Formats: sequence, C-alpha cells, structure tokens
Amino acid sequence: MPSAIQAFAAIGALVALKSTYDLLRLASVYLLPSNLPRYLYGPAPYALVTGASDGIGKGVAKELYRRGFNLIIHGRNAEKMERVREEIQSLGVPRKDVKIWVADANDPEVDFEGAVAQWEGLEITLVVHNVGGAPVREPTIDGIPAPDILGDLRRNALFTLFLTRALLPKLRRAAGPAELVFCGSLSSVLPVPRIVTYGASKAFLRQLSAALGADELYRAPRAPNVRTLYMDVGNVATHGHKIAAAFASPSADVYARHFVHCIGCGRDSVVPYWFHAFQLGMMGAVPSSVMLPELFKAIDLEFELAKKD
Ligand SMILES: NC(=O)c1ccc[n+]([C@@H]2O[C@H](COP(=O)([O-])OP(=O)(O)OC[C@H]3O[C@@H](n4cnc5c(N)ncnc54)[C@H](OP(=O)(O)O)[C@@H]3O)[C@@H](O)[C@H]2O)c1
Repeated sequence: MPSAIQAFAAIGALVALKSTYDLLRLASVYLLPSNLPRYLYGPAPYALVTGASDGIGKGVAKELYRRGFNLIIHGRNAEKMERVREEIQSLGVPRKDVKIWVADANDPEVDFEGAVAQWEGLEITLVVHNVGGAPVREPTIDGIPAPDILGDLRRNALFTLFLTRALLPKLRRAAGPAELVFCGSLSSVLPVPRIVTYGASKAFLRQLSAALGADELYRAPRAPNVRTLYMDVGNVATHGHKIAAAFASPSADVYARHFVHCIGCGRDSVVPYWFHAFQLGMMGAVPSSVMLPELFKAIDLEFELAKKD
C-alpha cells in the first residue's frame, strides 16, 4: 500500500511529465521545419488570402508567393489591390499568377458562390481568412449603433463563415490536402474591454475552426481533405494597429514569416509568434486580480493611440 507521500509524488511526476510533453509539443511547432510544402502540389497551387491589401494579410500573401504559391488576394479597394499585385510580382522570385477579388466584407450582399465559380479550374489548396479588425471605441456596446456592431460581426466572422461555406465543396474535391486558416486574436481568450464585439467575433472563429475541422473528420470516409487551423494573433505593428514595431510587436512582414511557418502544423490552434505564446502563458499563470489591471492599462494606451487617428 503506497503512503500518502508516495501517492502525491506519483501525481506530481505525472503532472510534470504532462507539462513537459505539452511544452515540447508546442516548441516543435516553432523549431521543426514547416509543413507548408504539403499544400504545394499540382501544376499551379493557389492560396487565397483575404484582407491582403495591407498589414498581416499582405505580409502573408508575399511570404506565400515567395514560397511558391499562386495567389488570389482579396480586398475592398481595387486600385490599392492593383498596387499590391505589382508589389508582390516584383519580389524577385519566379513570376506566378496573382488574381484579385474585390469585395467589401461589411456588405451583407457579397456573392460568395459567384466568386468561387470564377475560380473554377484553379487548384486552391490554402485559404487564409485574415480580413478583420475593429476600432477601439469610446462607448459601451449599448451606446454603439446597431449597424456598427453588425459591421464588426460581418467583417470579423460572417464574411469568413460564408466564404468558407462557398469554398468547402471545391476544397473537398482538391487533388490533395487543403487547409483553412482562421486569423484570430488573443482578445478571443482574454477579456479585453472596448473591443467586446471584436473579441466575441474572434471567439466565434476559434470555435468555427475547431468544430468544422472535427465535422470534416467525422464525415469523411477516409482521411479528410480539409483541415482547419486557428491562429491566435498577438500584437503586430500594422496600419490597423498603430504601435511601434518591436520584439514584442513585430512588423507585419516579420510576423508573416512566423505565421506561414505554422501552417500545416496539425494542431487545432496555435499562437504563431513564440513570444506571444509566452506572454499568454504568463497571463494565464497570474490571478485575474493581477492580470486585469495590466490588460486595462494596455487598452487605455490603445485607446489613446486610436484617438490620434
Ligand atoms: N495587428 C494586430 O495587432 C492584430 C492583433 C490581433 C488580431 N489581428 C487580426 O489580424 C488580421 C489582420 O490585422 P491587421 O492588423 O493586419 O489589419 P490592417 O492592417 O488594418 O489590414 C486589414 C486588411 O483587411 C482589409 N479590410 C478591412 N476591412 C475590410 C472590409 N470591410 N472589406 C474588405 N477588406 C477589408 C484591409 O483593407 P484596406 O487596405 O482597404 O484597409 C486590409 O487589407 C485581422 O483579422 C485582425 O483582427 C491583428
């Protein structure tokens, strides 16, 4: 019969073993070679990137182009998209096709089926649902006009849902594996004030990604073609998030390299930038009485920055 001390020691050893395993598994995502080449097959693989005219989306589109993908880049401003296409095709790597899709993600009438029909014949193997963002607002949600709230939900969640819905039959028919990547935010796990509907939309994407991935697995007669991955994005210095680029808040181009590296990692969700994963771990480890005041200070700073716009 083991003594109480022996029983506690055994439990402690199991907990330590499990924590070490989790840590090594997470570290392997950052340290092992990327599985992105899994989606580079066939004569002309395409990646579709939404919100690709600026920020992280543009950075990711450029990185995918460098790594051999043809692109469909999405945005709302046709002229800006043309300039981005030129920028991408001047990257100094073998020239590939870059198509443009213009659609306002706030528009409730977007023709998703029509968009997918025009890509008939293209082998889309990767979709990066990046479009999103929301202002850091002064009023509480009862003071925000309903159309603005609906705009947040469309731009951050519903556009992605209905584009996914229109694309799924095509992705299932792909000659090889296909992946849907959902660009989330740490505000989907942290209770951040002033961006309440934004955080809630990103939590929607997290669950959409996990449940959709499970649904494809559940229904597939063999290994499913379509995988999903939710990316927990932390602070990145972009047009939409006007903070200074620094180690803790990398530029969009630096961040995009980390983001693209994680595609194909096989997890349900990942924090693509290891330092943000560390930050999230630290916040989870402290009591909310310590964490919340820090979060409030951070959003105060964001609000001051947003007011300068
Ligand atoms: N940067 C961060 O710190 C951070 C943190 C957490 C999560 N994220 C998430 O990361 C993603 C990218 O953020 P970002 O900082 O790179 O943003 P960004 O610099 O503002 O770029 C957003 C992109 O989405 C496009 N877009 C915005 N509203 C649109 C609409 N209604 N219809 C069509 N396109 C639209 C923009 O087009 P225009 O060029 O026309 O403006 C741009 O291409 C978002 O999903 C955001 O929520 C970012």
